[in-house]
Amino acid sequence: MERGQFITFEGGEGAGKTTQAKMLCEALESAGIETLLTREPGGTFGAESIRKLVLEGTQDRWSGMSELLLMYAARLDHVEKLIKPALERGVWVISDRFADSSLAYQGYARGLGADKVRAVHEAVMDGFTPDLTILFDMDPIVAMKRVETRGEEISRFDAEDIHFHKTLRQAFLSIAEEEPDRVFTLDADGSRSGVHTRILFALTQKYPQFAGQLTRAAS
Ligand code: TYD
Repeated sequence: MERGQFITFEGGEGAGKTTQAKMLCEALESAGIETLLTREPGGTFGAESIRKLVLEGTQDRWSGMSELLLMYAARLDHVEKLIKPALERGVWVISDRFADSSLAYQGYARGLGADKVRAVHEAVMDGFTPDLTILFDMDPIVAMKRVETRGEEISRFDAEDIHFHKTLRQAFLSIAEEEPDRVFTLDADGSRSGVHTRILFALTQKYPQFAGQLTRAAS
């Protein structure tokens, strides 16, 4: 059986990744591709417990390095227990955030430095990388307005100032520039169906063998 594909959704807060990840899974399923939707930090019992530790509490609860190590403890559990076994069964895995978030949030926005984050990544992940990453790019001022009007609980990250969110955007864009074969930068400011169509377009570019099925599933 062919190995599944590992697709990650990345970007700042309020860009609509979660809704779009669900829509993509539904489109892939109707194109006859078995999928698994998951998220980070989280995805397994242990990683969801760590998620609570990192998202709740006061802003100064963790240093940047502690936060990074918690993210990687969660990620390793997630990759070993859920992601790799699913890929080996031929399932396509869509993850709402993955390692680029650590590089952008802890490496750049929290100021740890990209080298430290990459060193931890190499030590823990042993070369495991997504096959495709969709970067949801959006003006952080517009995105933060969306977060405010969503009425959900504000996490330790949502509560950061606009400078933090601008740094994040630049960090994600520089990751996309460094790895153009893996990262597709998406204009995330648009209607749900408009953004969904752009995502399907990115997939047909990457997987031309599924273009027919994906186009039929979208119509
Ligand atoms: P979540 O509510 O899922 O945010 P969003 O809907 O924007 O994806 O919370 C996840 C938060 O964790 C988000 O603010 C980004 C942060 N995060 C990191 O700082 N580093 C990481 O490695 C990951 C995976 C997430």
